[in-house]
Amino acid sequence: MSQDAFRLISPNGTELELPVRTGTIGPEVIDVAKLYKEQGVFTYDPGFVSTGSCESDITYIDGEQGVLMYRGYPVEQLAAKSSFIEVSYLLLHGNLPTTSELEKFEGTIRRHTMLNEGMLNFFKGFRYDAHPMAMLSAVVGSMSAYYHSEMDASNPDHRDIFAHRILAKLPTIAAAAYKLNTGQPFIYPRNDLNYCQNFLHMLFAVPAEPYEIDEVAAEALDLLFILHADHEQNCSTSTVRMAGSSGANPYSAIAAGISALWGPAHGGANEAVLKMLEEIGDVSQIKKYVDKAKDKSDSFRLMGFGHRVYKNFDPRATIIRDMCHKILQRLDRKDTPLFDLAQELEQVALKDDYFIEKNLYPNVDFYSGIIYRALGIPTSMFTVMFALGRSVGWASHWREMISDPAGKIARPRQLYTGPAQRDYTPIEKR
Ligand code: CMC
Repeated sequence: MSQDAFRLISPNGTELELPVRTGTIGPEVIDVAKLYKEQGVFTYDPGFVSTGSCESDITYIDGEQGVLMYRGYPVEQLAAKSSFIEVSYLLLHGNLPTTSELEKFEGTIRRHTMLNEGMLNFFKGFRYDAHPMAMLSAVVGSMSAYYHSEMDASNPDHRDIFAHRILAKLPTIAAAAYKLNTGQPFIYPRNDLNYCQNFLHMLFAVPAEPYEIDEVAAEALDLLFILHADHEQNCSTSTVRMAGSSGANPYSAIAAGISALWGPAHGGANEAVLKMLEEIGDVSQIKKYVDKAKDKSDSFRLMGFGHRVYKNFDPRATIIRDMCHKILQRLDRKDTPLFDLAQELEQVALKDDYFIEKNLYPNVDFYSGIIYRALGIPTSMFTVMFALGRSVGWASHWREMISDPAGKIARPRQLYTGPAQRDYTPIEKR
């Protein structure tokens, strides 16, 4: 047996060597692609707990060590030194930009912020209380109707334009959804403002008076977007890749990713955390809720806790917790009951055997909502904020997937447990 092969012995004693693939870092990967063709068996891995679905050079996570790197750069360094736009360039293009590359990229994103006026009509059709994630998914899906003639996936320029449009227009769509919920008029983008300033302007400005950009809020958003920008093959990114693998229009694939993100086990957790903290209400209630989370007969989970990959700590949660302290101080918030409650809940859970044994730690969503709340962003918009940050990750993965010459339509198999063949019975004999 060669060293780079994995040996399997089948129940009938046949030996099979499976090639082992080695990445730059991370565990070795057994290549089972030929298993069915050669042995007539499938692998079984619900939830893809042990399955790599693709090759990727975008993001690396070491869940045991709490490491997250975009294109090799630790997220802590990017959070401390970079900007969301620079990180977006890095994710899309593979390297940090030079000054002129960054200026050109930022200028392009600034000039793609407007929506086709026809898209605004979509908002007139939604109920005033439609969830902004539902609107975001629907309106992003509609981009496939507006931009289909400039979307030949085999054309690298078209792929670039797609990524620029997604990055630039998502904040405009998100702000329009918020305006519909609040009954305020839609505010057009201002291309003299940077990415986060412009988003805050579209979110909070009203035509009746000048709006002063809150720089603390703009900086906080920029940092949160960096932390959310990519996370390798998570549920929403895998959804984008899977939908896109059929050759579907990429705007539709992003809309599918937005829908996947909305679930409470994924990006919807940030909204669920705030609702949970409000329901807990007071430190005296913490034990009751921790006990509920441990009770197998109760479906309640401690939202913002646990992660499929991180089994030690989530590096994003550590940065966001520190950021919470700074933001609340800079905004001069003396009374911070939700943050105090969240910190106490974290301490209680971290000392509890159930959470220790199952390696459950606060994840990225545990503290982010507290910052959004402090910035005046309503709870229903929290997962939208996650989507804005993740949009560049989705676009980067779609580009990588579609440019891969070895790419195939994603088509998993199954373990069939339904009835074996049976004959049709006429209705009067059933
Ligand atoms: N509270 C209580 N118990 C939990 C929790 C929790 N938050 N998370 C996991 N467990 C238990 C779970 O019941 C299971 O116990 P057992 O082994 O006895 O059956 C064990 O821990 C493993 O959980 P799992 O559901 O098999 O693990 P998973 O990797 O499939 O799920 C998760 C990961 C994030 C979906 C899960 O931890 C969870 O539901 N957390 C709460 C929701 C949340 O915060 N989601 C945001 C994830 S981070 C942002 C993102 O990537 O979108």
